[in-house]
Amino acid sequence: MERENVLIPAADLDRQRGFEEKIKAMFAGRQAHPVACVDTFGCQQNVADGQKLMGMLEESGFTFTEDPKEADLVILNTCAVREHAEDRVFGNLGILTHTKKENSEQVICLCGCMAQESRVSERIKKSYPHVDLVFGPHALWKFPELLWQVYETHKRVFSVQDEHGTIAEGIPVVRERGVKAWVSIMYGCNNFCSYCIVPYVRGRERSRDPQAVLSEVRQLVEAGYRDITLLGQNVNSYGNDLDLGYDFADLLSDIDQIPGDYWIRFMSSHPKDATRKLFDTMAASRHVTRQLHLPFQSGNDRVLREMNRRYTRAQYLDLIRYARSVMPGLVVTSDVIIGFPGETEAEAMDTVSLVEEVGFDALFTFIYSPRPGTRAAEMPDLVPRAEKQKWFDRLLEVQNAKSAQLHAAYIGKTVRVLVDGESGDADFPLSSRTEGNRLVRLQGDPSLIGQFIDVKITGSNTWALYGEAI
Ligand code: SAM
Ligand code: SF4
Ligand code: F3S
Repeated sequence: MERENVLIPAADLDRQRGFEEKIKAMFAGRQAHPVACVDTFGCQQNVADGQKLMGMLEESGFTFTEDPKEADLVILNTCAVREHAEDRVFGNLGILTHTKKENSEQVICLCGCMAQESRVSERIKKSYPHVDLVFGPHALWKFPELLWQVYETHKRVFSVQDEHGTIAEGIPVVRERGVKAWVSIMYGCNNFCSYCIVPYVRGRERSRDPQAVLSEVRQLVEAGYRDITLLGQNVNSYGNDLDLGYDFADLLSDIDQIPGDYWIRFMSSHPKDATRKLFDTMAASRHVTRQLHLPFQSGNDRVLREMNRRYTRAQYLDLIRYARSVMPGLVVTSDVIIGFPGETEAEAMDTVSLVEEVGFDALFTFIYSPRPGTRAAEMPDLVPRAEKQKWFDRLLEVQNAKSAQLHAAYIGKTVRVLVDGESGDADFPLSSRTEGNRLVRLQGDPSLIGQFIDVKITGSNTWALYGEAI
């Protein structure tokens, strides 16, 4: 795909600003200003998309509520990665029939990854007539136009065409106030892991221009954000589509030159594209945290092949060894799937043994969920759920013990943290993060929020550390 066909032209984006003005003017003629409820599910990329939706709505005159009953516009920004995520959305859509009955003017919108699945959009068309607007991630940039169409025609609007995918720069964003920010550096995925729906709903890999990323990070640092996470489904293939001879490690080292007191994190990394150059760059940087989220999915080579992951257990372990050798004390986390179709108990236990061997600081663990349209969904899957659950519980037991042990080793140490908000815990009212992204609940004054401080760790459990500001 040619670059000029990937970048949405500025004139097309300007047109969208025009639709925002039309919506604003329409509501200005009414008595009360419009209120939107944006409910986002799924990964950080979707959270970042939700912040763009809110940006476009703010430009259209909307304020925000978390209560759908109060809202003129309800948006479900959905995730398709597992069946459970989809079930929750259909449940929420059911509830919205009641809010719409009480307020017939209410507009209901379904967007995000689920909306891009034809199976879902057809079901919405047939069985959920109260949903007014459905659009997938490809159409996010033209949300103002789609919303205006709903207001103008009073007809249902569907924009769910399958596409390679585009990049739209300069969409307004409403970020959470505070110290953390998300920056998408690329969109889409080319990997087609056999269990995963993401490449089908997010299109092919597209990297943003390095200058656009650098200028966004610079602005965030200047605005006071202190913990910035670079996002992509596989950040390690950043730049492959740009033909600039410039890769993710180059981007990290350029970002690292931006002056200021801040941390840079990134997710996710695919082991097949993780390079020694990347780990050397992290080790030499001032701002990139010594933290690595490197999903391995399975510890068994046959299952990895069936998953189309394109690395082996030995190669994965090699990467971890090298990363730790250049960054002693590196915090390592991962994603793992138990119960892939055809996986045997012995193969699942290879995953458990890899977890024991690496000693992850934390793990995101999932039981395999078939996604219609993916290759794995066609594979025979004969192991009963209850059996998979037993393997899963064994994995959790091992990981929880390891997390608790690693956390206990912090007790008595002084660590630097970024205080990022209030915790809701009366005894430890502040929440903070270490460089390795471990949660530390703190005793201290709320005036510390937004600051890097040294804390003494006084306690721990599987999920968190506890400490006091020095
Ligand atoms: N792109 C990232 C990567 O490859 O590491 C991950 C993206 S996915 C949104 C997050 C995690 O969900 C994956 O790492 C995988 O462990 C899990 N996942 C994806 N598809 C799944 C499925 N069908 N069933 C269970 N877990 C799944
Ligand atoms: Fe899904 Fe694999 Fe792409 Fe990650 S790399 S989004 S798991 S297909
Ligand atoms: Fe993210 Fe879910 Fe889509 S994990 S990319 S929101 S399918």
